[in-house]
Amino acid sequence: VPKRLAIRAAQLIDGTGAAPLRDAVVLVEGERITAVGSGLPIPAGTELIDLGGATLTPGLIDCHTHISGESGDYYQKLVRESAIDAAVRAHVYAGRTLMAGFTSIRNLGAEDFIDIALKKAIDDGSVAGPRIDAAGHGIGATGGHADLTGTSPYLHIDGFSGVADGVEAVRLKVREQVKYGAGVIKMVATAGVLSEEDSVGAPQYTQEEMNALVDEAHRWDRKVAAHAHGTEGIKMAIKAGVDSIEHGSFIDDEGIRLMKQHGTWLVADIYNDDYILAEFGRLNYPQKILDKERLVGRTQRENFRKAAKAGVKIAYGTDAGVYPHGWNGKQMAKMVEWGLTPMQAIVSATGSAAELLGWQKTVGRIAPGLYADLIAVSGDPLRDVSEFEHIAFVMKGGVVYKQGGQVLPRA
Ligand code: ARG
Repeated sequence: VPKRLAIRAAQLIDGTGAAPLRDAVVLVEGERITAVGSGLPIPAGTELIDLGGATLTPGLIDCHTHISGESGDYYQKLVRESAIDAAVRAHVYAGRTLMAGFTSIRNLGAEDFIDIALKKAIDDGSVAGPRIDAAGHGIGATGGHADLTGTSPYLHIDGFSGVADGVEAVRLKVREQVKYGAGVIKMVATAGVLSEEDSVGAPQYTQEEMNALVDEAHRWDRKVAAHAHGTEGIKMAIKAGVDSIEHGSFIDDEGIRLMKQHGTWLVADIYNDDYILAEFGRLNYPQKILDKERLVGRTQRENFRKAAKAGVKIAYGTDAGVYPHGWNGKQMAKMVEWGLTPMQAIVSATGSAAELLGWQKTVGRIAPGLYADLIAVSGDPLRDVSEFEHIAFVMKGGVVYKQGGQVLPRA
């Protein structure tokens, strides 16, 4: 018989934006939620987990991670590490992410299908980590943000394998990601910050290439996340029909209007700037990259506020891996600083994030029938959303991973 559990807490936020429930009880059978209510009686034979004055929320969802890597010395990483180094470390990052209350992630780019291998290991119970919607390789143009630029042509440092040019090649690249298990497709629509192109934001695909990529991905029933900083590239990606704009730094009024018209989600990594400016000089990043970050940081935050105010759909995504995995909750406070209410920030990381992934029937809300992915913080996050930087309790699929702020040993 599946295990029956009851979780009780002073307050429950269900992920839909509805007013919080007091004196909440969640009943769980096996890996699913069976009932949610205020003051529900605890049925006989049910183990009670009493979280006292804590607030329960759905497990959080980060819609933009790079779970196979973490920032380090720029040149050391380039010449002394390969995808194998990344693969042996990835499970540690997955564990930290889960213990930070993130029970699902959308991984937007990894070397050599590490994210897909990790997903399999987590799904079969070998590794403790979040559910993963994995992209495999990010797909982008030669010399662009998904490629390595600036290395010596004679050094033969392997770039990433998501490079594709021309409509036929991008279609093939999409099919390859799907073939090896990608649940989502990442398109690099414009130049980036943490790569050596001169521009931050110039389009890196033609409209035809973007159209072909999105058409192909959608044909295989995969959503497309577009890395896009630049004003023009953002609009091209929206017109191509992507499901989300990642970063969105230099979006203008027309871009905001287009996003609303197309129902495109904005996933803006607005915590990142603080970490990059504080640490990346020390990590020997080229001056050019630091300069590009200074160009992006504040504008991205101002435009995030503008877009949110205009009613663009917002989903939570942080670009974890640029900053240390496990700090995923830090962006909550940034989002409130830049225009969201605490409840809106919570919904962006729960109900809305699940919708963007197409996983709304299984995660992102506390409701009967969904996976019992539940977390708790000890204070009231509606007063202070930085509560999400200290997670007291983590349950994923009915299994408790963290309780009383302590990571439980795994049987
Ligand atoms: N991966 C992104 C890029 O290299 C990170 C951008 C970080 N900066 C920011 N302000 N969000 O383009």
